Amino acid sequence: MNNRKLRYGLIGAGSNAERKHLNNYMNLPNVEFVSICDVNIENADRLAKKYHIDKVYSNYEEMLDKEKLDLVSVCTPNFLHAEITIYALLKGVNVHCEKPLAVNSKEAQKIVEAKNKSGKKVMVGLNNRFTNEAVYLKKYIDEGLLGEIYHAKAGWIRRSGIPGRGTWFTNKDSAGGGVMIDLGVHYLDLALYLMGMPEPSYVTGATYNNFDYTTTRNRNGYKGNPNGIFNVEDSALGFIGLKNGATLNFEFSWASNIEKDKQYIEILGTKGGVSLINGELKIHSELLDTCVDISPILNPNIKLMNEFEHFINSILSGAPLMAPAEHGVYTLEIIDRFYQAAKGNEPVFFEKNNNKFLLLSSSF
Ligand SMILES: NC(=O)c1ccc[n+]([C@@H]2O[C@H](COP(=O)([O-])OP(=O)(O)OC[C@H]3O[C@@H](n4cnc5c(N)ncnc54)[C@H](O)[C@@H]3O)[C@@H](O)[C@H]2O)c1
Repeated sequence: MNNRKLRYGLIGAGSNAERKHLNNYMNLPNVEFVSICDVNIENADRLAKKYHIDKVYSNYEEMLDKEKLDLVSVCTPNFLHAEITIYALLKGVNVHCEKPLAVNSKEAQKIVEAKNKSGKKVMVGLNNRFTNEAVYLKKYIDEGLLGEIYHAKAGWIRRSGIPGRGTWFTNKDSAGGGVMIDLGVHYLDLALYLMGMPEPSYVTGATYNNFDYTTTRNRNGYKGNPNGIFNVEDSALGFIGLKNGATLNFEFSWASNIEKDKQYIEILGTKGGVSLINGELKIHSELLDTCVDISPILNPNIKLMNEFEHFINSILSGAPLMAPAEHGVYTLEIIDRFYQAAKGNEPVFFEKNNNKFLLLSSSF
């Protein structure tokens, strides 16, 4: 690969920034760690010390104006993703933006427009596309081995998994929504991505908010604020019809009275089906008039695809991205319509009511 070192900066020095972005970009030879920014300077200082980053900022505009960066990670609360990503793009900086790309599809579309204007790249932090299981499944499905896909199921249900009751996650203004935009965005994306991102026809569903009164259903390790705002859904259930005739149903919850947490997708095709349940991948089919299950043995020591290396390679070589901004718009288009359907208690169609689907552009 090209030996050039890319100047890297991080915006939003919270828990995801450290666990995911810093730990991974830190190990890449083509990355030079330059600066870190958080409006809460203590958060930025803590990570700067721990990861030996020289320059610390509390204002992202100042950092982007001064540092001549090649790329940044945007790991702030959701409502800032569009504003910061667009500012960075217009400064000529590539952006690895956390999911959801924005709080709604309109804002996400503005990111795509700024990206096209700047000629830079935006990758969405859709890490579930980059697991060995997902990479293998994508290849398997693209080979046509499932036949025609007619239905999929996606879910991520937690018993006690509110990411901090009363924090920015449970406030519509800062998060854009609740569990649907937080966990749903990952698994809805994964199912639809594996299905080839078909054009949606209609969406219907319901949201519930039954656990807003308590911090006891917080996710382990997440602090809540009993006096903070909780005005988003803790559960989201729905059904999507696709123009190609296939369908998808989903269930997402931060808190629910179930025995065990579960993260899953199942994809049903005419020649085979696949399930990825709590990380376990299985293929279900029929051989010699007998139903068979296949368990692919993927070596965890061999990473088929690395999200961070992939972004760096794409910046250096111009190769297409596996999780481009346009895909972030696609999922948010569906999530917007889902919220509309849940609120109105009736299905929302993509062409009726002028809800025309924003077609994906081809220049990722
Ligand atoms: N891909 C994943 O699996 C995954 C997992 C967790 C979170 N996330 C996403 O990452 C983002 C951050 O989540 P988190 O859990 O780290 O939240 P967090 O609250 O731990 O961190 C957010 C940080 O952003 C900082 N911030 C707020 N306003 C800022 C501004 N104007 N400029 C600079 N910094 C600012 C906050 O002070 C805080 O330190 C969210 O969009 C979330 O959806 C993704």
